[in-house]
Amino acid sequence: MNEAVFIPDSYTKTLENGQVSWQSPSNIALVKYWGKYGEQLPKNASISFTLQNCNTKTSLSFNVKDSDGFDFEVYLDGKREIGFEPKILKFFERVEMYLPFLKSYKFKIETSNSFPHSSGIASSASGMSALALCLMSIERKLVDGGISDENFNQKASFLARLGSGSACRSIDGDLIVWGEHSDIEGSSNLFGTKYPHLVHENFKNFQDTILLVDKGEKQVSSTVGHNLMYNHPFAETRFRQAEENLSKLIPVFESGDLSAFIEIVESEALSLHAMMLTSLPYFVLMKPNTLEIINKIWAFRAKSGSKICFTLDAGANVHVLFPEVEKEMVSEFIKRELAEFCKNGEFIEDQVGFGAKKI
Ligand code: DP6
Repeated sequence: MNEAVFIPDSYTKTLENGQVSWQSPSNIALVKYWGKYGEQLPKNASISFTLQNCNTKTSLSFNVKDSDGFDFEVYLDGKREIGFEPKILKFFERVEMYLPFLKSYKFKIETSNSFPHSSGIASSASGMSALALCLMSIERKLVDGGISDENFNQKASFLARLGSGSACRSIDGDLIVWGEHSDIEGSSNLFGTKYPHLVHENFKNFQDTILLVDKGEKQVSSTVGHNLMYNHPFAETRFRQAEENLSKLIPVFESGDLSAFIEIVESEALSLHAMMLTSLPYFVLMKPNTLEIINKIWAFRAKSGSKICFTLDAGANVHVLFPEVEKEMVSEFIKRELAEFCKNGEFIEDQVGFGAKKI
């Protein structure tokens, strides 16, 4: 399959104005996407759990216009946010050939996140996927005979990827793969696909408590971060490692082997940070409290036999992952021993979710 399948035939219906809204979740990668090429294509395949509580709600209002060019305004929590507009403009330019109606309307994009903007949780995955879904809802109204749900979701994921790579894993749930991988039939560099193999009960409703260690602006933007993988001395080994880790996860998901899961997931998180430590320029994105938390998790696991583990994104916050059966015990532990390492003691309790919803 190539990009051309996402270029629509000319639209058969007309539409003056309207409004569409979607709620789209964040996701947490187990095997990380770090390094891209071409137009938002990943250097290795990644896999993530879709989340449930961390999400973005976006309403897109549109009014037909005669003027040339793109015309839109972005509002965050009801207030105009011009800071977001260059990113959206770039997104519109990238996707225009796939959504030829974009210059025909004036848009108002109203968005809000379930998590605080300053929490250090990236809103690009949930935000870009929500916007992509809203645009697909408009396209659906313009096409005679509609669009099947499967094609709708696939194109939404394709568009979301052009906004932010990891956003293509936020359309559906509960386990999503992005990037071609020989062990995952149907996987593609162009969009996310549902993980196709057996998943053991142990991973159902898996829990993710996000510890907010550092709530500031991102120290390294994702684009700068991904670019660090160009000419990186360990790049090729890292891409191979990620591919192998995804292969190793397949029997682990099937058997429910939580110890093997922990080893792969924690190694992925530390490898991601190792890439940043060893790039030029180099970055240390963990904070002292990130390490305090990791050590506490390891000590608790050794003492209690819990199957708790951690993962990290490109920042200092820690995602604490654990099976649903341990919810009570681990929540207690987090409150008792980890909350003190969070900014203002704040953390967000989340769990695996099943994808975006039209609202
Ligand atoms: C560390 O998807 O934010 O979270 O494509 O430049 O928007 P862009 O990057 P982005 O990168 C996310 C990287 C990561 C790992 C992951 O989610 O797989």
